[in-house]
Amino acid sequence: MFDDLQMAPPDPILGLEEAFKRDPNPAKINLAAGVYKNARGITPILNSVKQAEALILKQETSKSYLGIDGMPEYAAAVQKLIFGADHPAVAGGLVVTAHTPGGTGGLRVAGDFIKKINPGATVWVSQPTWPNHPNVFRAAGLNLQIYPYFKAASNSLAFDEMLAALRQLPAKDVVVLHGSCHNPTGADLSLAQWAEVAGVVAERGLLPLVDFAYQGLADGLREDAAGLLTLCGREREVVIVNSFSKNFGLYNERVGALTLVCGSAAAAQAALSHVKTVIRANYSNPPAHGAEIVTTVLGSPELSAEWEGEVAAMRGRIWDMRRCFVAGLAEAGVERDFSFIQRQHGMFSFTGLTKEQVRRLREEFSIYVVDSGRINVAGITEQNLPALCEAMTQVIQ
Ligand code: LMR
Repeated sequence: MFDDLQMAPPDPILGLEEAFKRDPNPAKINLAAGVYKNARGITPILNSVKQAEALILKQETSKSYLGIDGMPEYAAAVQKLIFGADHPAVAGGLVVTAHTPGGTGGLRVAGDFIKKINPGATVWVSQPTWPNHPNVFRAAGLNLQIYPYFKAASNSLAFDEMLAALRQLPAKDVVVLHGSCHNPTGADLSLAQWAEVAGVVAERGLLPLVDFAYQGLADGLREDAAGLLTLCGREREVVIVNSFSKNFGLYNERVGALTLVCGSAAAAQAALSHVKTVIRANYSNPPAHGAEIVTTVLGSPELSAEWEGEVAAMRGRIWDMRRCFVAGLAEAGVERDFSFIQRQHGMFSFTGLTKEQVRRLREEFSIYVVDSGRINVAGITEQNLPALCEAMTQVIQ
């Protein structure tokens, strides 16, 4: 059965990671996958994480299975981080959370859950969106469509077009929104725009699904949740998928969660029971270590204060690199106005580079950027900045 198989195409993001590893050029620069790097170009283990791991190593007594939906303490910690303390929906039992293997695992469980309860639903994703969104929802057997989001020519949101498209959607279709740090554009909705989207979503009876993979990396932990909470204020039902890959640096621990906001406590428990059937048929129950780290850090006032400082430092470095990149391009003599990079949020910016320019960066300079022109700003350092700006100048001019 395998003899005649052709190679599947490489993944547009993680395939570049593999190519980067194979590249022998010592001056290579990786701006492909959304992985944070510090000023020395290293993806560090956070101090708060190391300390939590030491505590876990001392205290853990068993490696027996977790529950299908993970640990209750983890679910409570996730809800507090997303909703803040004492949110009425959480206090009222309207919110349930299942621990999933990373954000991608959470999206897939969400997709399978939606397919189970509403098989005819179409999932609407922004144009552009994270290239794995279509893969995940299609793999769950759902129809997929796009709504306008971004105007590449002016590097700005296509907000009116987005609202007009959402106004046409049939009730119960699913709208995927990016909680903060839109991937790949870095162009986020303002709070006023979130409120308008919430109004249309409520009016049309749509199901919002918020992919919240970058909490804390735009403006702050609470600030980045504000749009999503505006939506929750209007909506009876919201699906939220969050990840601790980026804000805890727990990429390879695969730790994330699927959270459902429901209309009643009974509906919440029923929904969770269906989520559990979906998980059981997929990976049975989640891996413990990453969730234990998150629960330990968020459950300790000292460790969580340290972690918040570490998130603030990552966020600050990303903002610094945005500023340095724009200044570096201008100094290198690039005439195009790249100031928009300083207005975008989180790890990513859409540079407007063409596929051909991206190819040249890779082949002539060993600089790895996603084909769409998306760069991971968090991969820029003071050391690689001059070479990056010089190469950009050459491929643009
Ligand atoms: C990205 O968009 O680069 C990250 O979310 C990594 C991934 O899984 O694609």
